[in-house]
Amino acid sequence: MTATAPAAPAVSPADAVERQLQEQFDATIAAQHRIEPRDWMPEGYRRTLIRQIAQHAHSEIIGMQPEGDWLLAAPSLRRKAILLAKVQDEAGHGMYLYSAAETLGADRADLTDKLIEGRQKYSSIFNYPTLTYADVGVIGWLVDGAAICNQVPLCRSSYGPYARAMIRVCKEESFHQRQGYELLMTMMHGTGEQRAMVQDAVDRWWWPSLMMFGPPDTDSPNSARSMAWGIKRHSNDELRQRFVDMTVPQAEFLGVTLPDPDLSLDPATGRYRFGPIDWEELKRVISGQGPCNAERIARRRAARDDNAWVTEAATAYAEKNS
Ligand SMILES: [Fe+2]
Ligand SMILES: [Fe+2]
Repeated sequence: MTATAPAAPAVSPADAVERQLQEQFDATIAAQHRIEPRDWMPEGYRRTLIRQIAQHAHSEIIGMQPEGDWLLAAPSLRRKAILLAKVQDEAGHGMYLYSAAETLGADRADLTDKLIEGRQKYSSIFNYPTLTYADVGVIGWLVDGAAICNQVPLCRSSYGPYARAMIRVCKEESFHQRQGYELLMTMMHGTGEQRAMVQDAVDRWWWPSLMMFGPPDTDSPNSARSMAWGIKRHSNDELRQRFVDMTVPQAEFLGVTLPDPDLSLDPATGRYRFGPIDWEELKRVISGQGPCNAERIARRRAARDDNAWVTEAATAYAEKNS
């Protein structure tokens, strides 16, 4: 009796095409080239990107609120002009990002609905209140500073429209960071009361800024997949460490104390060690229990509903002229 080799499983022509497309996709990622909207991509890659880009877009739009609250109370015309420009930039960032999500087949109105219904998230940081004008400076310095750490590597993201949007966004974020630092520097050269306002704002925003990088790597299940796909380039903890290393010398130069007794320079690595982060607080804020979650969403909902007539008119006009 002679043994015969088992028959190879039949590969349908559709499977063969799919396999070839997957190989092309893998080769593009391995060569660090860009995936473009016209290219085939695995469904998981598309879904992950839509989720990440939408969450990023929502953060830009919701992020207009905490600082927008101070537009009518800016202490001078100059400060008002700077803040107005910054808040408008954030609206622009949201628009680039929604456009990038649309290239993946997402619908902008649908993404907005998902945000309002709590089915998509936005950055936890924007659920904290802005209590004084020093908060505007601290948001520019710390929050936009953290955003820069997060976003600069995204300029090399594997998805072309996202990476290209990030290049312009990062240039504007760097203006945001500097205007915040300049505002704080001015206040630190002012009265004792102004210096106390800056210190109080730093005390409130420091830890939430560290939380902006997301959960620790040990508790971030999607990170490895996103890094393999080239969507994400560095882990949450790596980016958080980079932010701390960049910010501590700036705090010293400014003359404020960061609210962490464990903060110290490790002479062996040249990096700063910092104390434990309250991950329970991050979980609470992400799950909707932060100080301003309900207010932020209520306002976004009102903006959508009150301005629906503008969208309808613009759509009707576009249709008439197409
Ligand atoms: Fe932004
Ligand atoms: Fe910004």
